[in-house]
Amino acid sequence: VLSAEEKALVVGLCGKISGQCDALGGEALDRLFASFGQTRTYFSHFDLSPGSADVKRHGGKVLSAIGEAAKHIDSMDQALSKLSDLHAYNLRVDPGNFQLLSHCIQTVLAAHFPADFTPQCQAAWDKFLAAVSAVLTSKYR
Ligand code: HEM
Repeated sequence: VLSAEEKALVVGLCGKISGQCDALGGEALDRLFASFGQTRTYFSHFDLSPGSADVKRHGGKVLSAIGEAAKHIDSMDQALSKLSDLHAYNLRVDPGNFQLLSHCIQTVLAAHFPADFTPQCQAAWDKFLAAVSAVLTSKYR
């Protein structure tokens, strides 16, 4: 459970991310595919070259969904319910990959918002992304 301070740190930085979801989300995916090559297998139908339109478009969707999760931080189960179904029933993404993506998102935030991304802010984001991942992997069986 995130404290009120932690929620404020997450929501505050989301405000700065929202205008650049494609660029920042695309970079997070570029980092994911570069560092953790096995994750590329889920996206064989995409052009995975760094900075490609496919990668940016998908990165934008991922970060927008994270922004929505932050807006509904106390009711993420409901807010992410459809995405949870998609990842569990249709995509069947190995749950371990969520930690890898969370790591890459945090790397992007550190690189682009060094002043905001204090150790406290990172700890809040780590907790938040773990909570989002827990919802998206909750329906696996
Ligand atoms: C699709 C969000 C983690 C693989 C999506 C979509 C969103 C999303 C918003 C688009 C859904 C739609 O079009 O209706 C997220 C979030 C994640 C996450 C917020 C964690 C924070 C992952 C991970 C993988 C993955 C770790 C695999 C490494 C996919 C794939 C698609 C998808 C393959 C379908 C892409 C397509 O064909 O368009 N995800 N995702 N996701 N996600 Fe995730």
